[in-house]
Amino acid sequence: MQATCRHLLSLNDLTAEEARALLARGTELKAMHRRGEDYRPLRYRTLAMIFEKSSTRTRVSFEAGMVQLGGHALFLSARDTQLGRGEPVEDAARVLSRMVDAVMIRTFEQTTVERFAAYSQVPVINGLTNRLHPCQVLADLQTYFEHRGDIRGRRVAWIGDGNNMCQTYLEAARLFDFELRVGCPAGFEPDADLLAAAGERCTVLHDPLAAAAGADLIATDVWASMHQEGEHAARAALFAPYQVSEALMACAAPDALFMHCLPAHRGEEVAAAVIDGPQSVVWDEAENRLHVQKALLEFLLVPGP
Ligand code: CP
Ligand code: NVA
Repeated sequence: MQATCRHLLSLNDLTAEEARALLARGTELKAMHRRGEDYRPLRYRTLAMIFEKSSTRTRVSFEAGMVQLGGHALFLSARDTQLGRGEPVEDAARVLSRMVDAVMIRTFEQTTVERFAAYSQVPVINGLTNRLHPCQVLADLQTYFEHRGDIRGRRVAWIGDGNNMCQTYLEAARLFDFELRVGCPAGFEPDADLLAAAGERCTVLHDPLAAAAGADLIATDVWASMHQEGEHAARAALFAPYQVSEALMACAAPDALFMHCLPAHRGEEVAAAVIDGPQSVVWDEAENRLHVQKALLEFLLVPGP
């Protein structure tokens, strides 16, 4: 057990300085990895990864990241553990955190990761809830910094659903000091408390082209998230005007980047010509999950100088 146990349940668990340092460290670890440097500060350390929803990127990036840092990751599906049979989260937290060095959780309610962390002796990382997806937005911002430099004072347009990704961008706008314009259909705005916390940095518009105007970064995500699969058809009709098309990209700054956390649906939230086009940095964005999460694991598990 560590003397002071930090968690990453939301970006608000980081100071602005820590958040910026994480992105820089992610870029540094990426270069070290490419040079083939042997850097294994997490030898004999274990990360438990609890998945109550599907994943490709989150699972593989955390697992590969732990191996690269000299440790080990355990994949725990709710289907095969006692969590899926109703064992209380508080009990699972007390047991697992006596056995492993950190826990990553992908689940439904934000309160589940909060309850787990309250009873955990080791750091807990939010690997996506219905409310937030902090690891993905850290990877997005590392990608922005690598392509365009500091995001402070820049304009980001979030187009589509006011979902977990959009809500994490709201937290990021405050932490990294950028302007966020959300272009979403009426009734699909982000949660009011997160909007209020972002203050004047964030504006909600229901006209997607107005939201995209002059933006340095255009980001979007699926129209129906994993906990909303039954709503897919109804949402598709409502969200059609919010597709990130070439016409929408033309409203943004000429050197605007396009990001999508993936998985994507070409022809729905994004046109194939955009996601596969020259302004898209989605593959760098996906790769940076690996690097920024290695920086995060190091930050949470390796004592500072
Ligand atoms: N972007 C993201 O979190 O992808 P996965 O659902 O594949 O983990
Ligand atoms: N908003 C999406 C993100 C997937 C990575 C979801 O929650 O399903």
